[in-house]
Amino acid sequence: MDEPTYYRTATYEAVPEDVHRVLLLYSGGLDTSVMLKWIQDQYAAEVVALTVNLGQPGEDYDVVRAKALRIGAIDCHVVDAREEFAADYVLPAIRANGIYGLGYPLFTALGRPLIAKLAVDYARRTGCDTIAHGCTGKGNDQVRIEATIATLAPELKVIAPVRGWRMGREEEVAYAREHGIPVKGGTESAPYSIDDNLWGRSSEGRWIEELEHAPEPDVFELVTRPEEAPDQPETVTVEFEHGVPVALNGERLALVELLERAGEIGARHGVGIVDHIEDRIVGLKVRDIYEVPAAAILLLAHQELEKLVGTIHQNQLKPMLDQRWAYLVYAGLWWEPLRADLDVYMVAANAQVTGTIGVKLYKGSARVVTRASPYAVYDPQLATFAESGGLFSQAASPGFIELWSLQSRMAWRVRDDDGR
Ligand code: ARG
Repeated sequence: MDEPTYYRTATYEAVPEDVHRVLLLYSGGLDTSVMLKWIQDQYAAEVVALTVNLGQPGEDYDVVRAKALRIGAIDCHVVDAREEFAADYVLPAIRANGIYGLGYPLFTALGRPLIAKLAVDYARRTGCDTIAHGCTGKGNDQVRIEATIATLAPELKVIAPVRGWRMGREEEVAYAREHGIPVKGGTESAPYSIDDNLWGRSSEGRWIEELEHAPEPDVFELVTRPEEAPDQPETVTVEFEHGVPVALNGERLALVELLERAGEIGARHGVGIVDHIEDRIVGLKVRDIYEVPAAAILLLAHQELEKLVGTIHQNQLKPMLDQRWAYLVYAGLWWEPLRADLDVYMVAANAQVTGTIGVKLYKGSARVVTRASPYAVYDPQLATFAESGGLFSQAASPGFIELWSLQSRMAWRVRDDDGR
């Protein structure tokens, strides 16, 4: 391995003199385990590990903590942040119908600012001068994490060893073996790059980088493959109060449990598989395979209910603001004041988003089949019978049409025959 060269591009980057005690965002995987040891060696610094539970399935946090301590962390904190994540990050995303690039429900983008905020809290609490993370130099996550730290804690410095250490997987495995760091899987089986939480799971790498390669079955660990999903469809009802999902199939649930339950039901029916080409903020276009069963049900239901209770004017504006919201979050600017401004609007626009939507799930598809809301801007009598209700007169339509088409008719008249 080459001797690392230290140079500073941004003001918040650490040079070795700054680094005495490091708060490491630790997942227990290969990169951050190698980092844990590498930082001690390269910087002669102490390392405090922090592992954040955002509801990623199948983690054993006792094992993660024991591993960190074994590799030399002076302490390892495990934080269960599921409730905060659900209430303060996923819920605003639901209100804003948060989707980037027509398919990505932002689960990683929502998780990073919270993880980085917790890193700041724990760094301050444990007397660290520097925060270390395991992101590469090619992705969005480095942006989200470092922008958060630089915004919330100008006094803290950042190191991102993976960005500069020029070790590939093989060198990392060798380094790990040499330093007694346990390695899962071995050298030969380069795994997918996975990130997951309550709101979804992403896979990158291997054949996913070949655009002509259709998904291999082994990538799907959360969602049942649609062709193997039950032959019987299932309709799930989602009840909202002011834009907040509060019950599934009539059963009231706390948000974390509701998200988990919706994810299980969707996953069983093969719902929420997204094969996504994505424009990253760092310029690259990449392909991600997403499994987002909870979002596939809840965002669909929320959007449908919102459309039912909103006026035509509200329904035309909100998607534009939703898109701005999603882009800010995707682009790592969670702390940007415009996002908070937009959230005020999102809350206001969700005041009437109360009611119940039925979604039918069947072999990979999710389709709205029933709608009910006391705030629906909908009168079944107006829709069927002409003069009832006193709000609408069919006789008024010709007058409306005359005025509505006035300028178009005038313009047509003063132009050539084809209207140009
Ligand atoms: N492409 C998605 C995003 O930019 C998912 C990133 C997943 N992160 C990861 N380290 N595997 O938000």
